[in-house]
Formats: sequence, C-alpha cells, structure tokens
Amino acid sequence: MKIAFIIGTRPEIIKMSPLIDEVDKRGIDYVLIHTGQHYDFEMSQQFFLDLELKEPDYNIGVGSDSHGKQTAVMMEGIEEVLLSEKPDIVLVQGDTNAVLAGALVAAKLHIAVGHVEAGLRSYDKTMPEEINRMMADVCTNLFFVPTEDTAINLLFEGINPKNIFITGNTVVDACYRNLKIASKSSNIMSKLDVEGDILSLTLHRAENVDDRERLRNIIEALLKIRGLNIVFPVHPRTVKTLKEFGMYSQLEEAPHIHMIKPIGYLDFLILQSNSKIMITDSGGIQEEAITLDVPCLTLRYNTERPETVHAGGNILVGSNTEKITSNVAKLLADNKIYQKMKDAANPYGDGTASEQIVDAIQDAYNQGKLEIKP
Ligand code: UD1
Ligand code: UDP
Repeated sequence: MKIAFIIGTRPEIIKMSPLIDEVDKRGIDYVLIHTGQHYDFEMSQQFFLDLELKEPDYNIGVGSDSHGKQTAVMMEGIEEVLLSEKPDIVLVQGDTNAVLAGALVAAKLHIAVGHVEAGLRSYDKTMPEEINRMMADVCTNLFFVPTEDTAINLLFEGINPKNIFITGNTVVDACYRNLKIASKSSNIMSKLDVEGDILSLTLHRAENVDDRERLRNIIEALLKIRGLNIVFPVHPRTVKTLKEFGMYSQLEEAPHIHMIKPIGYLDFLILQSNSKIMITDSGGIQEEAITLDVPCLTLRYNTERPETVHAGGNILVGSNTEKITSNVAKLLADNKIYQKMKDAANPYGDGTASEQIVDAIQDAYNQGKLEIKP
C-alpha cells in the first residue's frame, strides 16, 4: 500500500505529523507532497525540524496568490505527482486550499481520499475554509472525524456511517508527543523575558485581519487590556494588513504588548502552557488550548469547533471590543470562573487518533475498499 500525504500550511504539517510518524513506524510506503502555500522558514521548514519529519518528496511551490490561481496551480502540480506515484489513498487534513485541491484531483483520478478532520462545519460560507471542507467531503471516501458531534454533521449530509471513523483529533497526539520534548528543549520563556502573567494571542483569519473595522476593534481591545503581558507571534498575513491599515506601530509601542515573529511548534506549546489565557481566531489553537487546560477566548462569531464551547473551555467574543476586554477582566477577577474554564474536559480524544486512522486505512486496503469502482 502507498499513501500520499498532502500538506501546505503550518497547521497541516503539525496535525499530519503524528500520522506520518505512525505510517513510518508501520513500514508503509508513502510520499509527502507540500503545496508550498506556506514558504517562510518560520511558517514551514521550522516545523519539519521541530517534528523531525523528512523533507517533502515534492514541493509544488505555489506561494501566495488569489484562491483561484493558488488552487489551480496546486491541482496541476498534485495531478502530475499522483499520476506518476499512483498511491492507493491520498490523505488531506483540515480545510485549507490544499485540502480542496488534493481531494478534487484524487477523486477525479479515481484514487481514494481520506479526509483527516472531516465533517467540521461553521455553517458560514463566507469563510474560504468552510467551502474547502465541504467540497473536500464531497470527494472523500474515508471520513476521519474528531468527535461524535462532527460525525452527526456528516450523517445529516447523507454520508454512509460505515465510512465515518470517530478518532479524536491528531492535534492531541501531536501535543502529547511533543510537550515533553518541548519542555526539555525550548527556551522561549527565558528568551521572552516578561514578568507577570501572560496572555498569548494569535490572529490571522481573513475575516478579521483583512477587514479594517474588525481589526480596529480587536486592536482597541488589546490596547485596553490591563494586568497581563500580551505575547503576540504575528502571522505574516496580519503583519501585512496591520501595516497597510497603519495599525502596526500602535501595537508595537504599547508596553504590555510583545510582538514577535511566528515561533516554532515546540516553543509555541511551551508558550501556551505558560499562558493564563489564550486569545485566538485559530482553529488549531482552540483545540490545543482545551488540551493544555488554558481558557480560550475566540475572536469569531461562530466556530466549527463548538465542542470547546459546550465543554466550557472556550468563549466566542467575535471582534467586539467590549466583549473581549470584559471577558479578560472577568477571568482575572473571578477565580471560580477561571478554574471552571481551565477544568473543561477535552473533547478531542486521548492522543491515539493517528493509530486509529492508520488502522482504518489498513483495514480498508485489506478489504479492497480503496479501489474506486463505478
Ligand atoms: C491559510 C489557510 C487557513 C489557515 C492558515 C494557517 C486557506 C484558504 N487558508 O491562511 O485556513 O488557517 O493558512 O496559518 O488555505 N504569507 C507569507 N509567508 C508565508 C505564507 C503567507 O508572507 O509563508 C503571507 C502572504 O502575504 C499571503 C498571506 O500571508 O498573501 C496569506 O497567506 P495564505 O496562505 O493565502 O493564507 P493564510 O492566511 O496563511
Ligand atoms: N503555532 C505555532 N507557532 C505560532 C503560532 C501557532 O507553532 O507562532 C501552531 C499552533 O501550535 C497550532 C497551529 O500553529 O498547532 C495553528 O495554526 P494556525 O493558527 O496558523 O492555523 P489554523 O489552525 O487556524 O488553521
């Protein structure tokens, strides 16, 4: 059996890494195809080093572009590789443009598609990610979903339950496997050299950072927050628009805000573990925060990870200045509320998602279910 992994961005490298390790461990043949959507050292290569992954066998080198052009170039490159490599299954992860491109090309070549983190829905089609995951699920044969709620989304869409595997999220596998390594190797906390409690922030979602008013409201909240140091590893998309909208220097000059370049995964795990609160619009960080017992405020009005909210570990604050500042103040003032959020149960499994996914793929292969027939 041969597996083709498609990755393109920071979170895909992180969440695919436990699966790549598992496939490697079992001696299964595989190829690693990087679309090149993320290409800065600190958005891509850093993670290959941190996670001890082999260099990709192919890098399509798509770079940054409009969605249409980026997806088209990825599809052309992926098609060429799949035609020559002839894998039995293509694995895509999450909701980026690589997921759409990879799933669509594989399905048309009659190659089985396994979607890791399938079935998530925000029910907000203005998000490029929602289009990507919905389109990918049309092309998917094996659906690896993190939770029962996610499986239900797919049942409502008429997916055969025999093809749905509830495995937990590989983000937990990655977190558990790397936290010990990180605690030995990372010196991020001494490098940061900040005294007092830390609030860590990430912000990159197109609907927040490309929209001047939403970004302005979030920045206002950050400037108003007191009693915490804000550590902010800034995504390149956000650097670009903060500068474009003339908001970068305001943040840089605020004494309680520490803007840094994106950091490696091991450093980020340690930063999160040492944070009193996370504020984010990231998908993966909503999951990691509840895994690491850090209360999370999410800068969105909806989430495809509602389990985190239902469990009590995550609050949706949108881009509303008052909601952001009042929730931070409440968490700082009321230890009972803080502790309750911290104690929220992790809905994303026990760190064995990658084993379960590879088991399911091997079973499907042995039963001839990866052969796509009319
Ligand atoms: C992409 C994904 C998003 C995911 C995020 C993870 C899509 C549609 N979006 O968003 O779902 O949450 O990755 O971080 O697939 N840039 C650089 N260097 C890089 C990469 C990007 O400078 O290495 C800059 C470019 O100016 C680029 C901008 O960031 O135009 C946005 O990058 P892009 O890959 O289009 O989208 P992300 O916001 O990273
Ligand atoms: N992350 C990192 N360094 C950073 C910021 C984030 O290693 O400076 C990791 C984080 O641990 C998580 C992943 O990147 O696993 C989330 O990626 P991102 O927020 O870019 O994408 P999303 O999950 O929203 O698709």
